[in-house]
Amino acid sequence: MLTIALAKGRLQEKTFERLKKAGVHADLGALGSRRLSVEDTSGKYSFLLVKPGDVPIYVEHGVADVGICGRDVILESQPDVHEPLDLGFGACRLVVAGKQDAINQGHNLLSRLKVATKYPQVATRYFHERGTPVEIIPLTGSVEIAPLLGLSDCIVDIVETGRTLVENGLVVFDTIAPVTARVIVNRASFQLQRKGLLILLAALEPSAEH
Ligand code: PRP
Repeated sequence: MLTIALAKGRLQEKTFERLKKAGVHADLGALGSRRLSVEDTSGKYSFLLVKPGDVPIYVEHGVADVGICGRDVILESQPDVHEPLDLGFGACRLVVAGKQDAINQGHNLLSRLKVATKYPQVATRYFHERGTPVEIIPLTGSVEIAPLLGLSDCIVDIVETGRTLVENGLVVFDTIAPVTARVIVNRASFQLQRKGLLILLAALEPSAEH
């Protein structure tokens, strides 16, 4: 049996749809309500529904053989796992954004740029590569409010439709990376469960005939 960790939230519905198309028959709707894990009717798979940022941790530690999560959380935690498949859905991008007038005013080079984000590692790497000293302000959600309240000079976050930025009067300064849903696989499982994994990966392929 393969254990598959799925991400709650933004990707959840599309992930369930893709698994269904791939011929996985499990009551995934039961996940997250009362059940912490469910099995499919064939007994080949069991599923866990966890916070997106925890998917790579479950997979890296071998609690799950496979994970489905956004590339954003993979870039943040840089887990030591295989990343064999881009599922194509859940497209968005990791960006640096802030108030339009922050561009016009410029930044005082003597002070550290304050960056609010749910992605402290991604943000640190991005600004470090550019030689910009930063103070990272880690938040767990509603990051867009930080520049409005003067908590930060800018944010690093994902943008999907762009609506949240527009509604809060923020603009994109730079794109850090494109993001889609990815399949990740534990390194040991990749060797030990190869046959079952190749069947699952082929069924999950965006181009697979369902
Ligand atoms: C994400 C992200 C943005 C928003 C972007 O938040 O952090 O806030 O979606 O989407 P948009 O470009 O389509 O407006 P999420 O909904 O995951 O909630 P959170 O802020 O509580 O993490």
